[in-house]
Amino acid sequence: MIKNKNILITGGAGFIGSHLFEKLLVNRNYVVIIDNFNERYYKGKEEYIEEVRMSNVDFKDFQIINSDLLDNSTYEKIEPEIDIIFHLAAHAGVRFSVQNKIEVMRNNILGIVKILDYAVTKNVKKVVNASSSSVYGNPIYTPVDEEHPKTPISPYAISKLSSEIYADYYFREYDLPITSLRFYTVYGPRGRPDMAIAKFFNLIRHNKELVIYGDGEQLRDFTYVSDIIQGLILSAEKNNSSGEAFNLGYSKPINVNELINKMYNVTNKPKKVVYTEKQKGDVDITHSNIDKAKKLLGFSPQVNIDEGLQRTYSWLINKEKV
Ligand SMILES: NC(=O)c1ccc[n+]([C@@H]2O[C@H](COP(=O)([O-])OP(=O)(O)OC[C@H]3O[C@@H](n4cnc5c(N)ncnc54)[C@H](O)[C@@H]3O)[C@@H](O)[C@H]2O)c1
Repeated sequence: MIKNKNILITGGAGFIGSHLFEKLLVNRNYVVIIDNFNERYYKGKEEYIEEVRMSNVDFKDFQIINSDLLDNSTYEKIEPEIDIIFHLAAHAGVRFSVQNKIEVMRNNILGIVKILDYAVTKNVKKVVNASSSSVYGNPIYTPVDEEHPKTPISPYAISKLSSEIYADYYFREYDLPITSLRFYTVYGPRGRPDMAIAKFFNLIRHNKELVIYGDGEQLRDFTYVSDIIQGLILSAEKNNSSGEAFNLGYSKPINVNELINKMYNVTNKPKKVVYTEKQKGDVDITHSNIDKAKKLLGFSPQVNIDEGLQRTYSWLINKEKV
């Protein structure tokens, strides 16, 4: 477990970043967050940070830099000497990227180059890069291992594959210890409102109709956020992870129709579902082979979909009470 280190999280005010932030504080790390609190596709990140501030973590020494990664002056604001960087900042939506190709390319690709230049200049000891299962495109076999061909079908996925190529370049040419992690559909408390589970729970709670893209038979490897945090921390700790890319998933996919049934069971609300056409950029199946992460990192996902949905819904209900 990482303890007493100076850690930079880019995108630390976002969904996954805020969970990592909380976990690292528990172990008395000094955390610096760089986040521009981007509101292009969802608002409310100040609340995420506030939730961590109000949680019962006793060590709360951190620096929040509300600034853009693309802006050179951002880096001058970082106070401590950084040991580890978790690079999570990105425009993260597949569908958003189809509509905003240039913005996503600029933000995600320039973002990683700037942060890796900073890491090299400052002799940072380890960088962990958030990539995505979307780099594979529609799989030609499942479960998908890391060697599977990469045929991205959205500008977002292309930007994530580019981030990995840059990571690899800095590893080879600058000896920067860096690992890329391909996350599979992450869900949990503080989940991004544009993603299926957060969006559906919000609609179901208010007795509104769910709109399913396609026939609902598409399989998704839903992965609970605490399992992703486990993988992020393990890859920062292990020296043998540098220069490598790993799948991080729960590895037991379910289809969207099954997911919805489980969500209606958790909420105890009447089912209202309509189907519409499949969206551009969406893949038909995501299913991770996580043998490499198990073997080299000791990764072991713990939270099954029933437990994860229950925890996510409890968080939503409690939030509404506050
Ligand atoms: N959530 C998932 O299922 C999933 C799956 C695969 C990969 N990922 C990757 O994990 C990372 C985190 O995803 P998330 O779901 O927490 O998304 P998120 O949108 O909640 O978090 C990303 C954060 O980055 C910040 N940001 C974006 N561009 C920035 C910039 N130029 N400068 C400063 N801050 C910037 C945003 O304000 C946001 O707070 C992303 O890189 C995403 O591509 C997520």
